[in-house]
Amino acid sequence: MLQTRVTQLLGIERPIIQGGLAHLAFAQLCAAVSRAGGLGQLTATTMPDAATLRSQIETVRAQTDRPFGVNFALGRRALEELAEVAVAAQVPLISVTGGNPAPFFALLDRLGYHGRRLVLVSSVRQAQNAERLGADLVVAVGQEGGGHIGKNGVGTLVLVPRVVEAVSIPVLASGGIADGRGLAAALVLGAEGVEMGTRFVATQECPAHPAYKHALLQHDEESTTLVEATLGTPGRVLDGSIPRTIRELEANGADAAALYPFVRGETNIAAAIEGNLEGGFVWAGQAMGLIHDLPTVAALLDRMEDEAHLAMQRLAQCLGKGG
Ligand SMILES: Cc1cc2nc3c(=O)[nH]c(=O)nc-3n(C[C@H](O)[C@H](O)[C@H](O)COP(=O)(O)O)c2cc1C
Repeated sequence: MLQTRVTQLLGIERPIIQGGLAHLAFAQLCAAVSRAGGLGQLTATTMPDAATLRSQIETVRAQTDRPFGVNFALGRRALEELAEVAVAAQVPLISVTGGNPAPFFALLDRLGYHGRRLVLVSSVRQAQNAERLGADLVVAVGQEGGGHIGKNGVGTLVLVPRVVEAVSIPVLASGGIADGRGLAAALVLGAEGVEMGTRFVATQECPAHPAYKHALLQHDEESTTLVEATLGTPGRVLDGSIPRTIRELEANGADAAALYPFVRGETNIAAAIEGNLEGGFVWAGQAMGLIHDLPTVAALLDRMEDEAHLAMQRLAQCLGKGG
């Protein structure tokens, strides 16, 4: 068993968190991750309404009594009603991404939230700000990651130890992690767990369309591209015809209104849920190169733990040989 401050703080068996996954992180995936000993999350921001979030929380609780989280992306829609639902249910963890968490944390205070607070960061400055505001943990997301990755441009291998040396709260590594080697590497860098997105899309329990899951198997670490950088919200996607159109528009100085039809949620849903990969886009990170199967979440987490142990044994052997 891999025990860290993250497993202690969250009351979980394995230091592995499922990241917020727009349009995909519903009760089925969330409960599967928590049942398997990690921490699953529901993505509040892409729930159709507050009532759906409430019933999704109830469904998770019907399937597991283990801890789980609710993820909020700032600046995309009004979050008050959704936050009220999460706080009324006193979900064990609330995570927040996409901007300064201060106003959202103030809202959680006003609503009387007592659970754990996690902030996704892509720089040392953001991590220190999160700690100062009362975050219990941070996830350091490097540039390799899928989805929105922050504008700081720093890869996981440098960002994680930089954040670890800058804050005293536990740090999870994210961006490019898809197996137990990545988990062991994260621990070596000083992180106390990992958060993954792309790897969890390619699991049995994720409601992504089979065409999306198979695309993750067929493509590799060279198959992603960045969109929305000119809007100040860079995100990593699987390259394809819509991402190429977005890139061309951005290169020609298109504004947010001109880009909107191509980057909006419906265009993501067309590909991710409906399987029209040519007519939409899907978020995907470089970890795609490490994904070769579509396991159940439980099989994935079991295997990751075995792989992490093997990787650490290899490290111990290096130490032995060095005398
Ligand atoms: C399909 C997809 C959707 C995502 N949606 C969200 C989201 O709604 N909220 C969030 O905090 N992060 C989101 N992310 C980022 C992930 O939670 C995670 O931080 C990231 O995927 C880590 O990098 P990896 O893909 O290399 O594992 C998304 C990522 C993917 C792949």
